[in-house]
Amino acid sequence: LFTDFSASNIGTPANRRLPFYAQNRPDALGYAANPAGASFVDLGVGGFLLNGHPLSQPSAQDPRWVVHAADNNARFRVPTLRNVDKRPDPTFVKAYGHNGYFKSLKEIVHFYNTRDTLPRCRADAI
Ligand code: HEM
Repeated sequence: LFTDFSASNIGTPANRRLPFYAQNRPDALGYAANPAGASFVDLGVGGFLLNGHPLSQPSAQDPRWVVHAADNNARFRVPTLRNVDKRPDPTFVKAYGHNGYFKSLKEIVHFYNTRDTLPRCRADAI
C-alpha cells in the first residue's frame, strides 16, 4: 500500500493525552524525559536534523544536517498502510499517526477531508 517514502507535514494535531507532556520533573534516577513539559513541540524530521538523536553516532548533532532543519520542521515519515487495520480483535482500539492522535481510520480520513476547510482545533482540545 502507498507510501512515497518521503516525510510530510499533514497537520496531525498534538496528542495531549500522551503522558510525555507531564514528564518534565526528574524521576528517582534524576531523569526528566521531557524538560519542556506541556510546551513541547515535536519538530519531527526538523528536530532530528537540528538536535540529532541521543542514539546517533558518532555525534548527535551534525552541522551538515542542521542547515536543512528549518525546511523539515513538523514533517513525519509517510508510513506504509500495509496491515494498517490489523488488530487482535474487532473491539481493539488502535491509534494512528506518529503520536497516536487518531483513534480510527474513519477519523484520519475525515481529518484529510476537512482539515483545510474547518476552523483550527482549540489549543487545549484533545
Ligand atoms: C486517500 C489518501 C490517504 C489515506 C487514506 C491516508 C491514510 C493514512 C493513515 C491511515 C495514516 C496513519 C498510518 C499509521 O498510523 O500507521 C496516515 C499517515 C500519514 N500520511 Fe496519509 N493517507 C492518505 C494520503 C496521504 C498523502 C497524499 C500523503 C503525503 C503527501 C500522506 C502522508 C502521510 C503522513 C506524513 C502520515 C504520518 C502522519 C503522522 O505521523 O502524523 N498521506 N495516512
